Amino acid sequence: MTTGKAITKAVIPAAGLGTRFLPATKAMPKEMLPVVDRPAIQYVVEEAIDAGLTDLLMITGRNKRSLEDHFDREPGLESALEKKGDKDRLAAIEHASELGPIHYVRQGEAKGLGHAVLCAKKHVGAEPFAVLLGDDLIDEAETLLSRMIEVQEKTGGSVIALIEVDPSQISAYGCADITSVEGEDYVRVHSLVEKPAVGEAPSNLAVIGRYVLNPSVFGVLEATEPGRGGEIQLTDALQTLAVGDGEGAGVYGVIFKGRRFDTGDKLSYLKAVITLASERVEFGEDLKTWLKDFVS
Ligand code: G1P
Repeated sequence: MTTGKAITKAVIPAAGLGTRFLPATKAMPKEMLPVVDRPAIQYVVEEAIDAGLTDLLMITGRNKRSLEDHFDREPGLESALEKKGDKDRLAAIEHASELGPIHYVRQGEAKGLGHAVLCAKKHVGAEPFAVLLGDDLIDEAETLLSRMIEVQEKTGGSVIALIEVDPSQISAYGCADITSVEGEDYVRVHSLVEKPAVGEAPSNLAVIGRYVLNPSVFGVLEATEPGRGGEIQLTDALQTLAVGDGEGAGVYGVIFKGRRFDTGDKLSYLKAVITLASERVEFGEDLKTWLKDFVS
């Protein structure tokens, strides 16, 4: 089942409080934490654009103005760099403001990821759309999101991205029970549970922060009661769609085996920064030499 119309909309929830990074995130959004020299959120916006998504909606909240500033023009800084002849930095700041236009809507209350996605209802309307969570950075060489869009267009349902994790880690994620689809590289998702206890997880397949959703998810979210943590969970709405047979039901999964970086907690954030920095031509080799000395 295809609608024939290309998917162009991406929703980027960025309203979280960033409590895991306090005090760094007391006056600054966690999405602005630098990963080498770009804020984490810029990687996500670039990934959406690389996948052909041109209509970007960010779900923000209080204290998130710097996100809007980052993707806006900054004429004072531009002319200062121009006067100095600093072409590379000028190009870098212009690039960030040319990624848009980006639309913004505020969530108002922190009522969970499902509620954040529901805030996009009016903007998205009746079209399938992507959701990208900022804590997951997908390597720029990967084509996960494009593949998910293809699977959505083919199946007409909703598509999630799954990774295999060590069973001891599953309680940090949504978890999926799946079966394979004959002749296809994607899977059918039969049920989903948000952050199950280790002994109760139906599999070791964890939901990561990329989704391509059928717009019927909005109606389901409106009827979804608060779940884990007292929040409206996107996972719970997807569970309803996975077991349902109404218009737009059906959930499929793409199992991702490529490179992904988690910037959601301090240790994995540091690993992401070091890995990506060590691959930079300007200073990667120097960093690796220094790291070897440092650990010995
Ligand atoms: C959210 C989702 C969870 C998913 C995770 C991926 O949780 O609720 O199902 O596995 O993102 O990053 P959060 O990490 O926001 O608590």
